[in-house]
Amino acid sequence: MSAAPVLELHGLTKRYGAITANAGVSLAVRAGARHALIGPNGAGKSTLFAMVAGSLPVTAGAISFLGEDITRLPRHARVARGLTATFQHSSLFASGTAADNVALAVQRRLGLSARLARPADRFADIDTAVGEQLRAVGLDRRRDTPVHSLSHGERRQLEVALALATRPRLLLLDEPTAGMSPSESDRFVALIGSLPEDMTILIVEHDMNVVFRLATHLTVLHLGSLLADGRPEEIRQRRDVQAAYLGDGAGEDLFTEPSTSRAGAA
Ligand SMILES: Nc1ncnc2c1ncn2[C@@H]1O[C@H](COP(=O)(O)OP(=O)(O)OP(=O)(O)O)[C@@H](O)[C@H]1O
Ligand SMILES: [Mg+2]
Repeated sequence: MSAAPVLELHGLTKRYGAITANAGVSLAVRAGARHALIGPNGAGKSTLFAMVAGSLPVTAGAISFLGEDITRLPRHARVARGLTATFQHSSLFASGTAADNVALAVQRRLGLSARLARPADRFADIDTAVGEQLRAVGLDRRRDTPVHSLSHGERRQLEVALALATRPRLLLLDEPTAGMSPSESDRFVALIGSLPEDMTILIVEHDMNVVFRLATHLTVLHLGSLLADGRPEEIRQRRDVQAAYLGDGAGEDLFTEPSTSRAGAA
């Protein structure tokens, strides 16, 4: 696997006064990877994620995306370049329908060029794009359902549709399955599995079942620093990684059980 890196972090550091949330984290996310960022509570995953997404300024270090230094670019400029994040906290317009929400995201992407098109063409384009994005996340039948009537899992699916509407090269997902039922989480894994192979995905995830079913590469953070980085089979064996999780109340069995068989464990 020698695909070029899409994203490179060089010594990324975030300090809040005396607290160091991330201490000099360097890593590369390769094209087409399903790259999972894991680690016990407080390891610095969300902080690192927010710096990459552009919602939190870095204290030190650099972020390079497709070979360009984006360390100081605002979030919308990162989205325009193909780096889009969904968040732990819902950013949906609750009284609108699923389709309304996707339409807003599509309109934002079409931006200025859409103003030049004839209105009729523009509405048809938006409508087609909305249909495509909803189908991509398995929500086509919920098109006209208001967001407040969607289940928690469906809202998370819709957030992915909004992110897809920006045509990301790199999609960032922060704990997408948090709060999901096992069946919602299964559906979400299938959704991620169905995304185009050339779309690179960086995912922060607590659920090891989800991690080991999706990830082609793992980075483990612990106490703000990089503890391990490599293929999932290698990381699973590492005693230092298991030990880091033991302090979190999670067991080493998280890493020793083959976790592709949730159904078999039930
Ligand atoms: N705004 C802030 N001010 C002060 N300290 C913060 C702030 N945000 C995060 N921290 C601290 O930085 C460290 C890393 O936090 P972060 O939220 O990135 O961890 P995490 O790995 O995402 O944890 P979790 O698994 O609980 O989501 C923690 O010690 C946290 O308390
Ligand atoms: Mg977090």
